[in-house]
Amino acid sequence: MSLDRSGRRTEGCDSCMGQTSSQGPRMSAPVRVLVVGAGSRGEIYSEFASIHPERMRVVGVADPRKFARTKLQKQHKIPDDNTFDNWHSLLEKDKFADAVLICTPDRHHKEPAVAFAKKGYHILLEKPMATTAEDCKAIVEASTESGVMLSVGHVLRYDPNVHKIKDLIDAGVIGDVIHIQHLEPVGFYHFAHSFVRGNWRNEAESSFALLAKSCHDIDLIHNWAGARRCVKVSSFGSVSHFNKDNKPKGAADRCLDCSIEKDCPYSACKIYIDRVKQGDSGWPVSVICPNSLPDIESVTEALRTGPYGRCVYECDNDVCSNQVVNMEFEGGLTAAFSMVAFTEEICNRKTTIYGSKGELSFDGYEVRVFDFLTQRSTNHKAHKNVLLPFGMSGHGGADYHLMDAFISAVANNDPSLIRSGPEETLFSHLLVFEAERSRREGRIVYCGDIKKSSGL
Ligand SMILES: NC(=O)c1ccc[n+]([C@@H]2O[C@H](COP(=O)([O-])OP(=O)(O)OC[C@H]3O[C@@H](n4cnc5c(N)ncnc54)[C@H](O)[C@@H]3O)[C@@H](O)[C@H]2O)c1
Repeated sequence: MSLDRSGRRTEGCDSCMGQTSSQGPRMSAPVRVLVVGAGSRGEIYSEFASIHPERMRVVGVADPRKFARTKLQKQHKIPDDNTFDNWHSLLEKDKFADAVLICTPDRHHKEPAVAFAKKGYHILLEKPMATTAEDCKAIVEASTESGVMLSVGHVLRYDPNVHKIKDLIDAGVIGDVIHIQHLEPVGFYHFAHSFVRGNWRNEAESSFALLAKSCHDIDLIHNWAGARRCVKVSSFGSVSHFNKDNKPKGAADRCLDCSIEKDCPYSACKIYIDRVKQGDSGWPVSVICPNSLPDIESVTEALRTGPYGRCVYECDNDVCSNQVVNMEFEGGLTAAFSMVAFTEEICNRKTTIYGSKGELSFDGYEVRVFDFLTQRSTNHKAHKNVLLPFGMSGHGGADYHLMDAFISAVANNDPSLIRSGPEETLFSHLLVFEAERSRREGRIVYCGDIKKSSGL
């Protein structure tokens, strides 16, 4: 099975929700999928079956949390026999689905990915692939040897506007790419929620921030650089502000008990309670009550006893709140990436790509190209209808497009429909590990031949 760049799909960036894709004939039966990890991501991806029951059916689920697996079971009418509190039991059954969506926490990706690949299931694996380079390679090896398709949850590759950038570069509209500048603004309360109090706050429990949050961005930069290999990388970053030294005088250990929380932008009362009071139980409120639906009582209880009620200056967080990565690719192409927690915007990336013939910029909404010869600008806005009621509007609709591509790939037995396949994803993950090595060791890392070291 070859997933090289030339085999990759380049059309379809404007495909609309609700339309059938233009990807040729499909199997007449819907693609049957299993869900391993029925949390936030597992539930979102499963929604594709509600939008397109003729294309996908969720036929099995495994999650140790009863509340999560029962919710998914009810939504998709999954028989009791196919509902488990652990994925090993799903795997022990004779193969009864075409694909599996692996949406477990970061440190629980490798084992199920390798095991389901060996059993012949096509795999949609959430990012990061795994938390070590060795485990990432093992996953790619297992899927290649078993001849199954592997798609990694690099959703931004499927964002129609982001894909437009790649199309414009490949069409030569800005000439040779000389420099890429890319910013990921995480958002002040998003960072406090996920990376100070929440699931991705502590490297030993999840992974370092560049992998957990910014593997998407390094993957995009790698993709925009085309076939050019990254030769050198350097990185700096640290945990700023969110530590005991910055705890204001008089602050309590929990926001519910804090007499000065009104003056704190990171107060859990503001982030969660105020939202529920206004009738907003969407993210981030939706993910803080592990065993019930969020309402004022359950949210208050979660803040009283759970991790999300802690003072942001009293957490066990150790992942970077700000990090820069500089890269040099073959032919002198340079790239500068910044991730920062302290922003108004939430994950709305800003990109400028400087080429020999023009400058391309993307503000998260529209792609603009300034042509040096004509001195004119052209705006490009990819069409993306988003089916809000189905909850698949995440990442600017990219979640939907990723599922659309994966289900079409499985239905048509055509891996070229997958933009985030094993080879490129492994290379960009290896680059993330090299960048983090540079930050830790305080030196420039010479990347060597990532392709050779990947074993592909
Ligand atoms: N593609 C993206 O942009 C994106 C965005 C957010 C999260 N993620 C990634 O998706 C993954 C899941 O994140 P989430 O936000 O859904 O987290 P979550 O905590 O909401 O869901 C994870 C679920 O996995 C379950 N689980 C834990 N161990 C398990 C096991 N051994 N077997 C089966 N289920 C198990 C948990 O009970 C939970 O329900 C993570 O790796 C995360 O980094 C990707």
